[in-house]
Amino acid sequence: MIDEIKKYLAEVEQFNSDSAEEIEAFRIKFLGKKGIQNELFARFKEVPNEQKKEVGQALNQLKVAATNKVNQLKEAIDSESDNRDAIDYTRPGYAVELGSRHPISIVRNRIIEIFKRIGFVLSEGPEIEDDWHNFTALNLPEYHPARDMQDTFFIEKDPDRLLRTHTSSVQIRYMENHKPPLRILSPGRVYRNEAISARSHCMFHQIEGLYIDKEVSFADLRRTLQYFTTELFGKSKIRLRPSYFPFTEPSAEVDVYWGLETETDYKITKGTGWLEIMGCGMVDPNVLTNVGIDPDEYSGYAFGMGLERIALLLYQIGDIRLYFENDKRFLEQFEAEFGFK
Ligand code: DAH
Repeated sequence: MIDEIKKYLAEVEQFNSDSAEEIEAFRIKFLGKKGIQNELFARFKEVPNEQKKEVGQALNQLKVAATNKVNQLKEAIDSESDNRDAIDYTRPGYAVELGSRHPISIVRNRIIEIFKRIGFVLSEGPEIEDDWHNFTALNLPEYHPARDMQDTFFIEKDPDRLLRTHTSSVQIRYMENHKPPLRILSPGRVYRNEAISARSHCMFHQIEGLYIDKEVSFADLRRTLQYFTTELFGKSKIRLRPSYFPFTEPSAEVDVYWGLETETDYKITKGTGWLEIMGCGMVDPNVLTNVGIDPDEYSGYAFGMGLERIALLLYQIGDIRLYFENDKRFLEQFEAEFGFK
């Protein structure tokens, strides 16, 4: 019997396979209920006493060897299949999802870039403003009827604090702290107490421009705006319509000639070909005096525009609410520069 066991031991040692079925068959053959191990064990009682020790040890050896062999081979195929899962070079990679800039940011950056080229620097101010910077210094004294042009969110406990209604407040902050010549661009959020609809929102974005120097003229303003519309829209025909803003005198509304080539052109210009894009004017002498700049020595111009409106023209997105809903399907469409993906 001892020879028989040795023969099996040799078989166990030699066995090798990477097939799960073969390994299972091997296990059943040696270690199964009716397997070799049990069969030999059943015959153990026939073994003469003087051989029992040797045969018992050999039997045990065979059992350990067969068990180890099965475990070892099973482990080998398990880890191999793990590896195959982890490093399957044939699998397509996961696409990296790139974010895209918000259309308002794209438009803002583009406008900043255009004005940077002609010497404008950035200046920003707080969204929570005081009465002086948002109204009074801009020639809008208390009880001035023009304050009604902008429905204001006041801070209840402090009547002097409010959410700025326009970025014109930054002009005042900058002029208070810098001497002319000045050339600044001030982008930012502004707030008005308006119902949210397709055309209006209680929060939106503006960019303010200001230029103060000696002998700045209305013609300089016009030429600068023409440069701007040409760079941004590729449209160089503009007109300045007389208007009223308390902080500028004279004041004007800027229209750009969009054209009437497509049906959309008809729609967005209401058949006129012209589109209003911003307000502007020569800085009122009162404003200069309010910030300690001598209006006899210096003059300047200012302009302000709404970014949602400019984005509407560039992307033809007419509902302002879309800009603020953070719907990924909407936001994903915009490339870093102009146009859709
Ligand atoms: N602050 C104005 C508004 O919110 C826009 C504006 C108009 C700004 C004329 C200016 C300007 O600087 O000169 O409607």
